[in-house]
Amino acid sequence: MKHEIIEKNIGLMALLMVLCVSIGGLTQIVPLFFQDVTNDPVEGLKPYTALELEGRDVYIANGCVGCHSQMIRPFRAETERYGHYSVAGESVWDHPFLWGSKRTGPDLARVGGRYSDEWQRAHLYNPRNVVPESIMPAFPFLVEKKLDGKDTARKMEVMRGFGVPYTDEDIAGAREAVKGKTEMDAIVAYLQVLGTSITSKR
Ligand code: HEC
Repeated sequence: MKHEIIEKNIGLMALLMVLCVSIGGLTQIVPLFFQDVTNDPVEGLKPYTALELEGRDVYIANGCVGCHSQMIRPFRAETERYGHYSVAGESVWDHPFLWGSKRTGPDLARVGGRYSDEWQRAHLYNPRNVVPESIMPAFPFLVEKKLDGKDTARKMEVMRGFGVPYTDEDIAGAREAVKGKTEMDAIVAYLQVLGTSITSKR
């Protein structure tokens, strides 16, 4: 039997397995690069404002993604809890995307507008202020750190290089837009816009 040759030769079997998995992977992944549904922004998607973009960096710098995903899966248990499942077109301007995979805390893909700005501030300052049983770390230092806006315009230019449609005016006004704001202001602005591009239409 020819198959016996493969079964008795682990090197050959490993090679053929890698070949099979690669072909399977490529046929699933490569077409996505060319499909509109994965490449086109959803209707109503707006690029992050200068302040929101800075807030996103604060989110990354403080490791929020290590405990929070931003990816609602299309299952009933998820959509009942968090709202409409995430679609690819919502993330096309996110570089890098922050879908994450670890959920020590709840998914945040649609947290925008769920709470007031005051709630978000009180919660980030010390989560126990509003959720007594919370195990989330406190981030009180965010209110002390002021943004200087020195690199904001450059960050937006880089994003424009990736295809985010920032105008020259957006970029020219970037420094002014974040001047005097704290990291707390920025991250709350960011949280409040998360997932709102499709839910606001419902
Ligand atoms: C060690 C894990 C951990 C880290 C790091 C963490 N969180 Fe949390 N987060 C939690 C847990 C657990 C909860 C649920 C309890 C609560 O509401 O405080 C939560 C809840 C939240 C909520 C409320 C979500 C909802 O739908 O009720 C928001 C918003 C939030 N976190 C934002 C953040 C942000 C922003 C950061 C980064 C600055 C962050 N978290 C970092 C664990 C974490």
